[in-house]
Amino acid sequence: MRLKNKTAFITGAAQGIGEAIAASFVKEGAFVIITDIHRELDEKTAKKYGDKILYIPLDVSKESDWKNAISIIQKKGLKLDAVVNNAGITGFNGNKAPMNPEECTIEDWQRVHKVNLDGVFFGCKYGIKLMKDRGGSIINMSSRSGIVGIPEAAPYASSKAAVRNHTKSVALYCAEKRYEIRCNSIHPAAILTPMWETMLGTGETRKKALKNIEATVPLHRLGDPMDVAYAAIYLAADESNFMTGSEIHIDGGILAGASASPKKAEVT
Ligand SMILES: NC(=O)c1ccc[n+]([C@@H]2O[C@H](COP(=O)([O-])OP(=O)(O)OC[C@H]3O[C@@H](n4cnc5c(N)ncnc54)[C@H](O)[C@@H]3O)[C@@H](O)[C@H]2O)c1
Repeated sequence: MRLKNKTAFITGAAQGIGEAIAASFVKEGAFVIITDIHRELDEKTAKKYGDKILYIPLDVSKESDWKNAISIIQKKGLKLDAVVNNAGITGFNGNKAPMNPEECTIEDWQRVHKVNLDGVFFGCKYGIKLMKDRGGSIINMSSRSGIVGIPEAAPYASSKAAVRNHTKSVALYCAEKRYEIRCNSIHPAAILTPMWETMLGTGETRKKALKNIEATVPLHRLGDPMDVAYAAIYLAADESNFMTGSEIHIDGGILAGASASPKKAEVT
């Protein structure tokens, strides 16, 4: 019950990492407001957890949706303790267009930034407004792609790098203002969620693709959404009281080294 008596607001909570965070927060005693554009899935999750969850439809890239969510929260007299800005897209879903720096269209570039970066900007802005009187925790979902370049997913990598940096601005701003709001980022990689499915294919192709990805992970396997949820629990709980402007990598060791690292005999 590490989140007992806390209320958390989670974006992109209908599936994958967001759903795991919502479920684990409920288990830890929190009341959770789940939001997503995926109404059907969200309503299913909301039913599963009964009165421990409230569902509000929210497209993170639309400020009008944020204003609507805030007014529902205020009308219900709810006080937030944590905001998890989890919603994100790679840009690949249903779109075969190249996302490299040379061929990516401005429309694709802006579409990805609108969700991944504008969404987090709004989540921080309204999170601060709702929590500044009592304090709280803002948790931004970045990625390992926010730390290293990804040639074939340039808008995704750029947006996640901006999320990482904005997290630090928010953390310092809130500290200067003495709002008692902490803000940290989580950097997952290779977590098996529906986000991967469109890229993996099916049958033998899927098996092969999974094997190839596993081979790039030092721990030789993909992660589970719960691996990320545990970090979110920590950041939402009072246990992380002295942590702000910081980042947690959950990537099976990917960022610990480089794939081009020299063999033992070559090290000088
Ligand atoms: N899975 C990974 O390996 C991985 C790695 C690094 C970072 N991440 C990040 O973790 C977060 C969750 O990823 P996931 O793997 O669970 O993805 P997912 O695609 O399984 O789930 C993402 C959720 O976000 C929702 N969403 C999409 N656009 C939205 C919008 N405009 N407004 C509100 N909700 C929207 C989707 O409906 C979906 O429910 C994302 O920010 C992603 O970039 C994931």
